[in-house]
Amino acid sequence: PEARITVSTAAPVGSIDRRVFGSFVEHLGRCVYDGIHEPGHPSADEQGFREDVLELVRELGVTTVRYPGGNFVSGYRWEDGVGPKDRRPVRRDLAWHSTETNQVGLHEFAHWNTKAGSEPMLAINLGTRDELAALDLLEYTNLPVGSTLSDERAANGATDGFGVKMWCLGNEMDGPWQLGHRSAEDYGKLASRTAKALRQLQPDLDLVVCGSSGRGMPTFGSWERVVLEHTYEDVDFISAHAYYEPHDGDVDSFLASAVDMDRFIEAVAATADAVKAELRHDKTIFISFDEWNVWYQSRYHDTDKVEGLDNWPIAPRLLEDVYTVTDAVVFGSLMISLLKHADRVKAASLAQLVNVIAPIMTEPGGPAWRQTTFFPFAITARLAQGEALQVGIDAPTITTKAYGDVPAVDAVVTRGDAGAGVFLVNRHRTEPITVTVDLEGLRTASISETHLIADDDPDAANTLEDQERVRPTPNDTAAIQDGVLTVTLPPVSWTAIGLT
Ligand code: AHR
Repeated sequence: PEARITVSTAAPVGSIDRRVFGSFVEHLGRCVYDGIHEPGHPSADEQGFREDVLELVRELGVTTVRYPGGNFVSGYRWEDGVGPKDRRPVRRDLAWHSTETNQVGLHEFAHWNTKAGSEPMLAINLGTRDELAALDLLEYTNLPVGSTLSDERAANGATDGFGVKMWCLGNEMDGPWQLGHRSAEDYGKLASRTAKALRQLQPDLDLVVCGSSGRGMPTFGSWERVVLEHTYEDVDFISAHAYYEPHDGDVDSFLASAVDMDRFIEAVAATADAVKAELRHDKTIFISFDEWNVWYQSRYHDTDKVEGLDNWPIAPRLLEDVYTVTDAVVFGSLMISLLKHADRVKAASLAQLVNVIAPIMTEPGGPAWRQTTFFPFAITARLAQGEALQVGIDAPTITTKAYGDVPAVDAVVTRGDAGAGVFLVNRHRTEPITVTVDLEGLRTASISETHLIADDDPDAANTLEDQERVRPTPNDTAAIQDGVLTVTLPPVSWTAIGLT
């Protein structure tokens, strides 16, 4: 089969905010402890952070890192994580039924970000706390010395403050599993009060209000509307979260997961714009897609979950999904979806970064390695520069149970100062598809690099025993003739092409 892609250069979709290449570090399982932080590891720095992991994080190209949760944040006291380590409290974390030692907190995380070359994005506990604790956290984190909490920060070693710009007003407050879960009405009021209070201390913050934890939530749509009716003038972003996995072995629908993400983004944007009209506002609310990934949630609920009143482990192995080639192809297509909506999605966080549904895995005292999903992230973050362009796709369709007939090929084209990027996915399980991309207007003449994720075994994965089983290979079929790029996409594959 064949597909044809046309690129329209006249009216770009929008500029790509670098914050769409963000990730997420939660106090969950082995993400922090025995993940980024392992004091006894041979590569640990003076604060106990693994340099081998940091090197992979830099290679991944992560721009922002959301912290410290996730569900964890809704039971968190940020004060527990500052000050002398031997005096920090040990707590029960209700979200993941674990013991939290608080050996990593705000200062350690800021140190780690400096080394990773990333910017911290902090989540505030609005589950079990309110605007006063949020104000304290902002004062401690950002304000110049001269008040008790900022002075305390300076005494703890950071005179200048951490300059955190982006703040999440709680986490997944629509979810019944969330500590402090409440109605859209109640949450909207609390988020508005908190945002207003925070802006009195620092007006130029980027504030993210909680949207839905998934498009399938029973309150999806009405949640966004009601929350934004309360907070429209106070916030800049509304969040969206989505995780995908095959249900009942339905791989065709799983491969088309980005269709759901497209619809999700478009529905949230439409809802935000409806509130904009209703309130006669001029500003536009952007989307922070601050949790997205492939996640085998059924595995967590069926086998991983920690339970028992006498069982609160430290850093248990939780949500340690091993990603296959198929997972990486779906993952790459989710990145295509985010970029296709560059006008509205101005921030995003891959959930998560290390060990917990992560592109990077570690073994205590042992190696750190790249999962299959590492590659589409790293390559897209590096190649997708500048702005996203409109593409027209004329491709064969596949029939899926979840989304009906969907194009077998999805794509996005980006254009920056250094050249263009073409990102393509073939969701067909058995057929290779040859694609032509008309490059007219792109002012690019040659192919600088190609990368392909595909394998005869779509279940192939990288593991401790075989860390390099899956690597991207060049897609040697790519060629340009008379201003037209031609490339063949194997079944279940993801391809990226750099053009100069
Ligand atoms: O990323 C794992 C969990 O998924 C997060 O803690 C939560 O926000 C979401 O439900």
